[in-house]
Amino acid sequence: MGEQSLPIESQFSGGVIAIDGPSASGKSSTARAVADALGFAHLDSGSLYRGMTLVGLREMARRGIPGNDPARDLAPETLLRAAEDRGLMLQPDEGGFAAYLEGEPVDDELRSAEVTARVSAISAIPVVREWINARLRAMVRAGQNVVVDGRDIGTVVFPDADLKIFLTASAEARAGRRISQRGAAVQPERLDAEAAALAARDHADSTRAVAPLRPAPDAVHLDTTAMDFPEQVRFIVERARPIFGR
Ligand code: CDP
Repeated sequence: MGEQSLPIESQFSGGVIAIDGPSASGKSSTARAVADALGFAHLDSGSLYRGMTLVGLREMARRGIPGNDPARDLAPETLLRAAEDRGLMLQPDEGGFAAYLEGEPVDDELRSAEVTARVSAISAIPVVREWINARLRAMVRAGQNVVVDGRDIGTVVFPDADLKIFLTASAEARAGRRISQRGAAVQPERLDAEAAALAARDHADSTRAVAPLRPAPDAVHLDTTAMDFPEQVRFIVERARPIFGR
């Protein structure tokens, strides 16, 4: 049975706001602020894909396998077993959940250039997606109200989400935000290089066979190119309040 034909609505009990969109569109920071405003928890599905990539890189080092391409050099079962054995999980932190591996928070490492360069290949592995989706759904089934951000949250993971947002911004705005996030000056060469890296990841994420990045038919589109952060958060919170009565 395909994932989409499962009776998912009968499996989850918490409220769900799904925020999908391309790389660096501001999904995670927006999702966290929306969650804070509503008293929901924030689940960043990308941190699990990044976490799985870090698991793969560490496993290769542990086994003395040269290179840094775990999607190519490790069997999917080896990767999943390592994720279980090393305790890849989301654990509550203030206002949401943070990724833990081997008992330690790993958020900074998950943002490294090495993980970022390899994550799209890892996220194209179907069993990796099933493993991560099962964890996201279990958290909602436990009754948690959540804002979940990713690429396929409104299309595959929670197709019956109460509210779906598809967040976009121009390539240049996204590249500029990502560079500023790192604390660097937004110079033209940097902007070009960052925009090219984001475009490559978006292309890989949009054209893969499983769960490609695309808006759900019932998603509300929000282009944040000309919006500031409080405005985009307000836009979503105002749509959510009547739905959840908050
Ligand atoms: O922060 P950024 O937008 O750059 O990416 P992210 O949300 O941390 O996601 C990192 C990568 O994980 C993406 O480029 C996708 O390859 C993958 N991903 C996915 O396939 N499905 C999701 N629901 C979330 C992330």
